[in-house]
Amino acid sequence: MTKTLFIRTYGCQMNVYDSARMADVLAPLGYSPALSPAGADMVVINTCHIREKAAEKVYSELGRLRLEKEARTARGERMTIAVAGCVAQAEGEEMLARAPWVDIVVGPQAYHRLPELVARATRAGGGVLDTEFPAESKFDALPEESVAPGPSAFLTVQEGCDKFCTFCVVPYTRGAEFSRPATAIEAEARRLVRRGAVELVLLGQNVNAWHGDDGATVGLGGLLRRLATIPGLARLRYTTSHPRDMDDALIAAHGDLPQLMPYLHLPVQSGSDSILAAMNRGHRAADYLAVIGRLRRARPDIALASDFIVGFPGESDDDFRATLALVEEIGYAQAYSFKYSPRPGTPAAALPLQVPGDEKEARLAALQAAIVRGQTEFNAASVGRMVEVLFERDGRHAGQLIGRTPHNQSVYVAAPPALAGRIAQVRLVAASERSLAGELAGAPALYLEGVAG
Ligand code: 5AD
Ligand code: SF4
Repeated sequence: MTKTLFIRTYGCQMNVYDSARMADVLAPLGYSPALSPAGADMVVINTCHIREKAAEKVYSELGRLRLEKEARTARGERMTIAVAGCVAQAEGEEMLARAPWVDIVVGPQAYHRLPELVARATRAGGGVLDTEFPAESKFDALPEESVAPGPSAFLTVQEGCDKFCTFCVVPYTRGAEFSRPATAIEAEARRLVRRGAVELVLLGQNVNAWHGDDGATVGLGGLLRRLATIPGLARLRYTTSHPRDMDDALIAAHGDLPQLMPYLHLPVQSGSDSILAAMNRGHRAADYLAVIGRLRRARPDIALASDFIVGFPGESDDDFRATLALVEEIGYAQAYSFKYSPRPGTPAAALPLQVPGDEKEARLAALQAAIVRGQTEFNAASVGRMVEVLFERDGRHAGQLIGRTPHNQSVYVAAPPALAGRIAQVRLVAASERSLAGELAGAPALYLEGVAG
């Protein structure tokens, strides 16, 4: 008998990938995807712990699911509730105590064991917990992908982090840095391309720390070179990187590999050296600028993106001004900014001189205004250009597709549905802060054939 499964995903792209893998792991048990939690036999909440009130939001969602479960139980039906991801890892036992109607709490390194956990929860009639970091690689235990990928597919190559930035929970929730072997990555990449992916986005919390052994030690640049030989794979991207791991081979790959898109998300977090030191980033603002300089020499048109935290403990007006100055100096195509949020158990949460909430708010508004100005300028400068767009999905209006430029900009284009999953030449005609409008160049004969097989 088929059962239905609903997975709600919060947080980063890695969680999106993990949710798809959880569906793969549960498919052999007869679970097929449901469109909403209402009526689903199993609901998984894949959680994120990175910022404000993460755990509270999960508990309030669990409160709503409790009502649904009680109604189902009254009708003699069974509903399994699982909590996965980084909040599950951080809360552990506490979650089963606070929300005893939860059946399974599973951490990011243990979800390959979901079938066993479902069986144990059914037998036990109560909550089971798995937040271990098992010795066997989760990746070795995962089945092949059960659902065909979209035109742009995520592929996790690295997980965890050993950098211990003082604000960040990732080293605690995702564990130590781990690189998947190149052969396993290549096999997954070939499967994804065979099933229709045109672009692969390599994922890792610290993706450019990826390293493998190809006879000699290779880094991410070597892995990208290897993947670039896969026929039909038109585009490669990777995210998220640390400035300290941008080595020469990776920078050279940006100059040499046409498949490697000219876009890099390289978080800097702050423009102030004293804040960078307090964050334990291991680089100064000048080191970051030097890396950007090397990247631009290798690939002059590279578009840059970053993450920023405002209001880190001890951040003064001058520190914050240094961040604004760095934003102006680089000219980001995209950037994400956040108010510092003390994460329980991280060193920065215990620092004196926490910045007051209204000050954080004001700095965030100023930084976001600068970022929006930069993004708008970057997009406006693209208008009039002819670019290759990979069409990923339907647009909001009938007859419209949404795709991405090599610089990772979203473009809305009037285009026939047959172009979904293909790359076409598009003239960019209008720009806003977040997206662009484009027109297909020429007649259908000009569409680039063959990339999506
Ligand atoms: N507070 C605010 N932002 C944070 N980030 C990570 N930890 C915190 C925190 N405690 C941001 C960083 C990181 C992004 C994924 O989230 O900018 O790059
Ligand atoms: Fe959130 Fe980080 Fe965990 Fe991703 S790895 S789910 S961003 S805490």
